[in-house]
Parts: sequence; C-alpha cells; structure tokens
Amino acid sequence: MPPMPAAKAERLFEAMEAAMIAGHPPPGVYMGKGIKGALRVACDQIGIPLGGQSTLYVRACRVLGRKPDFSLYREPEAPPAVFERLTVGKPKGRGQAGKPEGTEYRVLAIGDAHDAPGLSKDRFRWIGRHAKESRPDWMVSIGDFMSLDSLNSHIPNENLTGKAKPAYLADIASGREALETMENEIAKASGYAPRRHITLGNHERRVYAFEESAPEVVGMMKHELESIFDGFKWGRSPYAQYHFIGGVGFIHCAVNRLNKSYGGKNAEMTICNDAVFDHVIGHSHVKREHRAPKLGPSQHVTIVNLGCALPWGHVEPYMYHGATTGWWWGIRDLTIRGGHIVDVADVSMIELERRYG
Ligand SMILES: [Fe+2]
Repeated sequence: MPPMPAAKAERLFEAMEAAMIAGHPPPGVYMGKGIKGALRVACDQIGIPLGGQSTLYVRACRVLGRKPDFSLYREPEAPPAVFERLTVGKPKGRGQAGKPEGTEYRVLAIGDAHDAPGLSKDRFRWIGRHAKESRPDWMVSIGDFMSLDSLNSHIPNENLTGKAKPAYLADIASGREALETMENEIAKASGYAPRRHITLGNHERRVYAFEESAPEVVGMMKHELESIFDGFKWGRSPYAQYHFIGGVGFIHCAVNRLNKSYGGKNAEMTICNDAVFDHVIGHSHVKREHRAPKLGPSQHVTIVNLGCALPWGHVEPYMYHGATTGWWWGIRDLTIRGGHIVDVADVSMIELERRYG
C-alpha cells in the first residue's frame, strides 16, 4: 500500500484528535448502537472514503512520525464510582481517579503579541531563541499576534488619531517581519520543527469583519493575513474557536451563552465553573491561573490566562493613563498530560531579554 501523502495524514490526524475529544470512540472500542466511531467522523469531515480501512489513523501517524493518542477519547458519561469494603464496618466510596497518563505535550504559549509598525521586533527574536533552546512540541499564539490598527473601526478615519492609522499593507509587512524574525531563530535548530498554531483573536478578526462590509475586496485582505501564517506552516483557528492539544482547549477568549467573551475581574473563575476541560486563553493581557475541583472523573479544570507578549511595561495607547491594567508581559511554557495542564512556567519579557537579548 503506498504511503499516505503528508498533507492528507495531517488533516486526518487533526480530525481524529478532534473527534476523540468530542467523545467518538477510537477504533477497537465498542461504540454502542448509533454512536459513530472517531475514524468514521474524521473521514466524513475531511471527505475521504473509509471503506474497510480501520488502519487509516495508524498509517497517518506513521507518515507523521507520531504516536496514536487514544487517551484523548473520554467516554461521554462518567464511569460509576467503585465501592469496596476496606475495613469491617461501613463501606467506603472511592471515586475513580484521573490518571496523569498519556502522551505529554510541551507547548510554548504566546499571549497577545500585538505586533504593530514602529514596535520593536526584538521580542520575537528572543521567543524564537527560547524555542530553539527548549524545543517544545508545539508553539501556539493565542491570537492578537498583530494589532491591525489600520482596520480599527472604533476610531473614524477622519479623526486626528484616525489619520495616523497605518496603511493595511504596512500592518501586514510588520506582522510578516515579526513572524519571520521568530522563525529565523527556530530555523537555526537543526532537525527541529515544532507544530505551530494560531487561534485568531479579535484583532485579526478585524480583517474578516472589514471584508464583510466591502464585498468588492472579499478574499484579498484575508489572503494577505493568512499568507503570513501559511508561509511558515502555522495552522489557524477562526476567532472564538478551540484548538485542542492533548485534550486542552486553546482559544483567544472563551465565549459565554450570550455570545460574549467572559470578562471582568473573576473571568477565569467563571470560565472554570462552566468548563468541562482545561483552557488556555489570552485577550485580557493578565496572567492568571485558576483551578476548580470538580465532581467526576476529570477531578478538576484549570484555566490559564497567558498575559501578553508585548514589550515589558508596554500598555497600548487606547488605555487611559491611570487605568487599572494588571497586564503581564512574557510567555508561558506549558506541559500537558492526561488531558490536563500539569505545569506552567512563566518566562517574563525581562527574563527573555536577559537570556537572549
Ligand atoms: Fe489583545
């Protein structure tokens, strides 16, 4: 049987991961009546015939040099509690413990970087050097990689401030230079190629919103934006959609049932109350971590807010002087295992400059 093309293997691998996380069982697990297997769902999604080929996922993994990770699959219902009589007398209940098993993923997570023309690109060189040294499995930008102030609809073009907006192509050239600066450092690490992904933020969404109101140019502007990330093999998720790594959801900002992003002082706690899986978020530029104990097999949910990846101490001009910001500037090295964030290491912009500047 000829080897599967790499692009097809990549798409199948991603679709399988998403299907297992969504509760579709991997090959070999009894499905029960009417429940679709993960491979069937993945094949349907990417439009390839499954036929009788239950080894498709394994073949895709072989092409990509990765291990199949069936630990991503969780039974939709919690397993029953196990009761055992430990001593004479009252039986004691034991919940089934979540096990920190499964594939480990190390992720270099970059909060809102807000690149803009005129802002130094040094931090991208430092982040690239950090990746080259620490060799994470994944690099993830949580979105707002670029500010794209050319398309800021809050400031009318005819205002004094509006007249100072950069041209769209200046924003694009700046964003490309920022990513290129980071990638040039990663390229110096021989035999190393992390998987890369950006969950697009509200600032990147400006491009898609602008095209909505200007049908004449539809496709032209987003092509400029997307080609920056495509050029360096960064995967993309649309604004407010999750990207899962090892069962942990990455998203620019979590969205509540009113279709609004969770906000306020206690946003991480509120998300934690509502969520059924660990989250990595950005958007508010604060560094926070909150873990809520849960009844059930997963035992707890953790929300990590990354802070921002702007230069240390830089507050965007739209904030009033004296406003409470609480922003934090740096990146986070995450370790994921068994569907949970098990380690978070902060590397501030000050530390990045000290090590790599
Ligand atoms: Fe932001």
